[in-house]
Amino acid sequence: MARITAGIATSHVPAIGAAIDNGRTGEDYWKPLFAGYEWVKQYQRQEKPDVVVLVYNDHASAFDMKVIPTFAIGCADEYAIADEGWGPRPVPPVKGHADLAWHIAQCCILDEFDLTIINEMAVDHGLTVPLSLVFGEASEWPARIVPIAVNVVTYPPPSGNRCWLLGEAIARAVESFPEDLNVQVWGTGGMSHQLQGPRAGLINRDWDTAFLDRLTRDPEALRHMPHIEYLREAGSEGIELVMWLIMRGALGPRVKELHRHYHVPASNTAVGHIVLEPEPARKPRR
Ligand code: DHB
Ligand code: FE
Repeated sequence: MARITAGIATSHVPAIGAAIDNGRTGEDYWKPLFAGYEWVKQYQRQEKPDVVVLVYNDHASAFDMKVIPTFAIGCADEYAIADEGWGPRPVPPVKGHADLAWHIAQCCILDEFDLTIINEMAVDHGLTVPLSLVFGEASEWPARIVPIAVNVVTYPPPSGNRCWLLGEAIARAVESFPEDLNVQVWGTGGMSHQLQGPRAGLINRDWDTAFLDRLTRDPEALRHMPHIEYLREAGSEGIELVMWLIMRGALGPRVKELHRHYHVPASNTAVGHIVLEPEPARKPRR
């Protein structure tokens, strides 16, 4: 059977992608940010996940005001690279796992979680920056990706509790897939940031730190945190953090924190990163 062996979360700041793509990671501004991702790159070389269920948000690259799915699952074999701002990054195309994705879609929908099925979709910095940070530069990504796109751009985003329950449903689906696959679930976006209006540039280190602490030790409190608290404390784009609760819900009640990194500044965003394993550990049969 497939097993979820780890959960990883990271911010997706597009300027990080541009720094990588333009060879600027060694600059004083960027060095401390990238140093905090060395641990996870080494971890991934040992863990060798077969598939990553990658929870992220699109930034009007694949969806726009015409279509706004709250939760969508990519069921394609391959995803093209697109982006706003700096344009499409020069990274390899993202390979999907259509069989597992269709299985997750079927299980979740029959489990009363109506995901939108997407068979053709481009992916932007929301997905590619986490890939670069966690796997490093690659001529081919070392794992297949099942993208789960969440609407956190247009009001109303899903509640934290709904995200948690989706994580649980995804875990039930993955664990009923008959192939022996090492599967990770990633939550991306965040941490505190606001890109617009009079509070643009807002960063809240204390609140971000408490969010990271609670993710490991007191997730029940996070699960029921209202949108208004994200907005007030973490800024308008801080709401991206609800996506981390899909990852956390997929790991079960108890987790072990293996690694954490928090860094400011990165463009306008506080960068957060955490690596969690379910407890007791579920190692792949190999
Ligand atoms: C920035 C952060 C984001 O999450 C995003 O999607 C775009 C820009 C920023 O910090 O510049
Ligand atoms: Fe974003």
